[in-house]
Amino acid sequence: MARRKKQKVTPEFATPSMKKAYLEDRYFAPYPGELDAERLEARRLEQSSLLEKPSARVFQTPLEAIEQRDGDSFDFDSDMVRFGKAGDLNPEQEEALAASLKSLIPWRKGPFSYYGTDIDSEWQSNLKWDRVAPWLPDLKNRKICDIGCNNLYYMYRMLSQDPWFVLGIDPMVRYYFHHQLNRKFHRDPRINFDLLGVDDLEIFPKFFDVVFFMGIIYHRRNPVQTLDIINSCMKPGGTLILETSGIPGDEPYCLFPDGRYMKAPGYWFLPTASAMKNMLARTGFCNIEIFENFKLENFEQRQTPWAIYESLEHFLDPDDPSKTVEGYPAPTRIYIRAEKR
Ligand SMILES: C[S@@+](CC[C@H](N)C(=O)[O-])C[C@H]1O[C@@H](n2cnc3c(N)ncnc32)[C@H](O)[C@@H]1O
Repeated sequence: MARRKKQKVTPEFATPSMKKAYLEDRYFAPYPGELDAERLEARRLEQSSLLEKPSARVFQTPLEAIEQRDGDSFDFDSDMVRFGKAGDLNPEQEEALAASLKSLIPWRKGPFSYYGTDIDSEWQSNLKWDRVAPWLPDLKNRKICDIGCNNLYYMYRMLSQDPWFVLGIDPMVRYYFHHQLNRKFHRDPRINFDLLGVDDLEIFPKFFDVVFFMGIIYHRRNPVQTLDIINSCMKPGGTLILETSGIPGDEPYCLFPDGRYMKAPGYWFLPTASAMKNMLARTGFCNIEIFENFKLENFEQRQTPWAIYESLEHFLDPDDPSKTVEGYPAPTRIYIRAEKR
C-alpha cells in the first residue's frame, strides 16, 4: 500500500504576508540623508517579528476577509472620522467589516464611522482635538509626528490642513491593524504608521516641524530623557503639543504614586501644570503656553459598547470623585504648546 504523503503543517499563527507588507512599506525612502535609514531598517526588522506572534492573528484573520476599496466617500473634517456610508457594501462585505471592527475592541479613541457602523470609543477624542486645533501652527506642507498615535484618530483630523507627511508611531501591534483597516477603504500617502516607540525618535534628527505627544508622558519612567529625545527629532522653532494627566495645584510639584494610580501601575508621575512647564523649559523648549488645565469628567472618558472595560468612573472614589480609588487627587488634563529652542 502506498504511504500517504505527510502534509506540511503551517503553524496557524504564521503571518508572513503581513510582515512582508510591513517591511515593504518604505514610507521613509523619500528622505535619504534626513534620517538614520540603517538604524530605522534594523529597528523595523526587529519590530516586524511582532506581526508573527499569535496575538496578531486575532486582527489579521478578519482583516484579510476585507476587499480593498477605493473611491468611496469619506469625511475627516467632522467630530466623527468617517469611511464610506451605509448601503455601500453588500451583506458579505458588511459581515467581513463587522468582524474586523469587533476584533479591534476596545476602541480607545474616536469616534469613527465605517460604512454606517458608528464606533463610540472610550474617549471622545473630538473634544481633545477641538481644544488643540486653535493652538496649532499652520500644518500645510509640514512634517508631523503623532507619538503614541493609537488608532490614528488625530492624524485624520490633521489632513484638512494638508500636511506634507504625517507619521504616527505606536509600538502596539493592534494599532498597525487599525492603520491597515483604514487603508482598505482610503489610501492617503500622507498618512503613515510605524511600530516604533518614542525612544526610536533619535532616528529622525531635526526632522519634524510639529510633534504631538499626548496622553503618554506620565507613563514614562524617565520623562526628562523622553523630552530630550523628542526635542532632538524636532526642527528648531518647531511646535510641540503636549497633553498629560496631572494634578491640581499652582506649585511646581509632581505626585509620585505608591504602586497604582486609578488602578493602573503605569502612572509614574503626575505633574501640576507648572511642574510640566518647568520640565519643558529645562529640556530645550521655549514660548511655553499652558492652554488648558481642567478636571477630567466622565462624559469624555467612559465605558461604551466598543470599549467594554472599566473606565474613568470605575477609577474614582464613588463617594468623592475628586479622589481616585486610592485616595489621590483625581486627574486633571493639562494641555501645553511649546517651541523647540
Ligand atoms: C493613553 S494613549 C494616548 C493616545 C493618544 N495620543 C491620545 O492622546 O489620545 C497612550 C498611547 O501610547 C502608546 N504607547 C505605549 N508605549 C509607547 C511608547 N514607548 N512610545 C510611543 N507610544 C507608546 C500606547 O500604545 C497608546 O496608544
